[in-house]
Amino acid sequence: MRRTLLPILAFVAGLAALSIAAVVVLVPKAGEVAVSSVGGPFTLTDQDGKRVTERDFAGATHLVFFGFTHCPDVCPTTLQQIGDVLQALGPKGRDTKALFIAVDPERDTPAALKTYLASFDPRIVGLTGSPEEVNAAVKAYRAYVRKVPTKGDDYTMEHTALVYVMDGRNRFINALNLTRPPAEAAADLARMM
Ligand code: NI
Repeated sequence: MRRTLLPILAFVAGLAALSIAAVVVLVPKAGEVAVSSVGGPFTLTDQDGKRVTERDFAGATHLVFFGFTHCPDVCPTTLQQIGDVLQALGPKGRDTKALFIAVDPERDTPAALKTYLASFDPRIVGLTGSPEEVNAAVKAYRAYVRKVPTKGDDYTMEHTALVYVMDGRNRFINALNLTRPPAEAAADLARMM
């Protein structure tokens, strides 16, 4: 519970702070465009070794989720749930992508992601990169990631377990609530498409 809830709470608190800041501070000057504060540019490598940026996923509503292949429970559960929701979208979700951004690039190479994601819906795209590239994406999405040492020289990663719904212009629409039947989550997602 603690592992999953804290990052979400931190994220929600961050969002609340951001929206207050947006109201108070971000009065755009003439000619300036008010930009969404969640999401942003990234350059990463997909599970086939192809270099991609956020522009490759623009043009359609898509999902973004941060995680890592050594995650014992939250990531595999969420990836399964994302697959169920995509399935429940039916033909409407045929080309809908879900980005799984690796927060553990040390172990999550493109090849490791490819092997891992073979167990999940093929619309889930694995993305990884250098620590700097991953960090830039984490920052852009206001995500929370922390490396936590475990036994010996092993470690695990605490991370935001939020599923971001991004619009076709890479702007954050909402978080996808997966604590309900896939058909309900899919109906909600369909309204955001
Ligand atoms: Ni995880």
